[in-house]
Amino acid sequence: MPNVKAAVFASGTGSNFQAMIEADLACDIVLLVCDKPGAAVLDRAGLSGVSTFVFDPRAFTSKAEYEAKIIEKLYETGVTWIFLAGYMRIIGATLLEAFEGKIINIHPSLLPAFPGKDAIKAAYNAGVGKTGVSVHFIDEGMDTGPVIAQESVKIFPNDTIQTLQVRLQQLEHRLYPRVINQLILSK
Ligand code: GRF
Repeated sequence: MPNVKAAVFASGTGSNFQAMIEADLACDIVLLVCDKPGAAVLDRAGLSGVSTFVFDPRAFTSKAEYEAKIIEKLYETGVTWIFLAGYMRIIGATLLEAFEGKIINIHPSLLPAFPGKDAIKAAYNAGVGKTGVSVHFIDEGMDTGPVIAQESVKIFPNDTIQTLQVRLQQLEHRLYPRVINQLILSK
């Protein structure tokens, strides 16, 4: 049976992209989609030989237009799963319809708590005793789709935002590949 093919969408550093590349994944990451020309994740893709589709949203008149271009690329490369990893855009109806139930995201909080940007800082500043990481399906909202898996970490009195962030990132890098494999192998 040919391997399942997947794309990662990312806008920034790409540590989760790297973790997927290094993990024993049940699918091939064949494409990185990036909306930020010059993002560090593109260097990682270059080093690991993963093809990239880089676009500048400002060059398009609408989300529907650039998502149609992305879909062309995804079909061309035979991608059936999309893993968002620090992709700083809301997925629109065009992509949602084309890849229904096949787009997942990782978020550094215990959703539905602390959706959106700066979730680690928000949890830290709220003074909660624990936070964590969620992997969830994408819907039209921001970090609102059905949760697939969550793991929590304690917030200690001597934590800083930085120490908490390191722990959460380590957890993300373990959790995301594991959940991806569970999903793919259960289909
Ligand atoms: C991660 O914390 C992820 O949960 C969030 O964006 C961050 C991306 O980090 N959605 P990286 O680019 O993978 O290092």
